[in-house]
Amino acid sequence: MSLSTRISSLSDVSPAKIITVCGKGGVGKTTLTALLVDELSRSHYQGRLLVVDGDPAMTLHLVLGQEPPSKTIADVRDETSLSAKVIRRLPAGVSPEQYVADRLKSQQVLTTTRQRAMPFDLLAMGWGEGRPGCYCAINNVLGHLLTQLLSRYDLILVDCEAGLEHLSRFRLTRSDLFVTLTDGSRAARQVADRALQVAQSVGMTIGAVARVEQLRPGDAAQPEPDVIPLPFDAELQQLTAWGDITALPANNPVRTAVKLLVLKSLQLGGHDPAERIRAALAPVQGG
Ligand SMILES: Nc1ncnc2c1ncn2[C@@H]1O[C@H](COP(=O)(O)OP(=O)(O)OP(=O)(O)O)[C@@H](O)[C@H]1O
Ligand SMILES: [Mg+2]
Repeated sequence: MSLSTRISSLSDVSPAKIITVCGKGGVGKTTLTALLVDELSRSHYQGRLLVVDGDPAMTLHLVLGQEPPSKTIADVRDETSLSAKVIRRLPAGVSPEQYVADRLKSQQVLTTTRQRAMPFDLLAMGWGEGRPGCYCAINNVLGHLLTQLLSRYDLILVDCEAGLEHLSRFRLTRSDLFVTLTDGSRAARQVADRALQVAQSVGMTIGAVARVEQLRPGDAAQPEPDVIPLPFDAELQQLTAWGDITALPANNPVRTAVKLLVLKSLQLGGHDPAERIRAALAPVQGG
C-alpha cells in the first residue's frame, strides 16, 4: 500500500488529535504546518480538519495560498464587551456564551476553505495582548467556546508562535503530538525544550513529542537517531517567499519527510503515553 493510501485510510481515526508545531522564531514552523496540510490534502484526507494559525504575524494562509482570515479570535475578544451592562441588556434567553458564539459566527472567524480538493477550516488567533483592561470574562467564554469547537474535529493542526502563553490563554489544554522544530543550533534546542516546559507548566497534556530538525544548506541528513530530518530546499524557500507551497513537486525530498510525519501523527493512538512517545521518536525510515 502506498504511503498516500495509508494516510487517507487513517482519516477516520478517533478521538480528535491535536498536533502543535512549536520552535524558535524563523526555524520553519509555518512552512512545516503548511506542508502538513498540503500533504494531507494530497493524500485525500477525509477527516474534519481544523488548522489554527496561532502566530500573531498570521502568515500561514500565504504559504498555503489561501485568502487571509477576515477576523481573528483576538479581534472578537477586543470588540466584544461582556460588561455587566452588556449582559443585562442581552435579549431574554441569550446567555453571554451564546452572544459571543453568535459574534464569532457573524464575524466569520472560522473560514471554511479547501486545500486542493480537501475541505478544512482555518482559524487565526490574532494578537495575544489586547487593549489595557480586564479580559477575564471574554477570555473565559472564548476559552470555553474554543474547547467546544475543538471537539468538532478529527484533526487539529496548530502553527504556534515561539511562546505558548498566548495559546494557553485560549485553553489549548492538550497536544497529542507536540512537534518541536529546531535548526540544530543550541539556541533553537533551548527554545524547543522551553516550549515543552511551558506547555507542561500551563497544564497542557502532552501525548507524544516529535523532534524535527531543519537541516542547513549542504547538511547531510544525519541528525540524532530520534530526530526527524527536514532537508533544506532552495525551491521551497523561493515558493514560501513568492508563491505558495502547492507548487512544490510531488517528489521533493521535503515532502517525503513531511509525509512520514503525517503518517506518524495519525498513527499515534496507544494507551501507554511512554509507548506513544517512543513511537513518535522512532527514526523515520522508508515509511
Ligand atoms: N525545508 C526548508 N528549506 C528551505 N527553506 C526553508 C525550509 N523550511 C522553511 N524555510 C524557510 O525558512 C524561513 C522561515 O520559515 P517559517 O516562516 O516557516 O518559519 P517560522 O518558524 O514559522 O517563523 P516565525 O517564528 O517568524 O513564525 C522562510 O524563509 C522559509 O522559506
Ligand atoms: Mg511562522
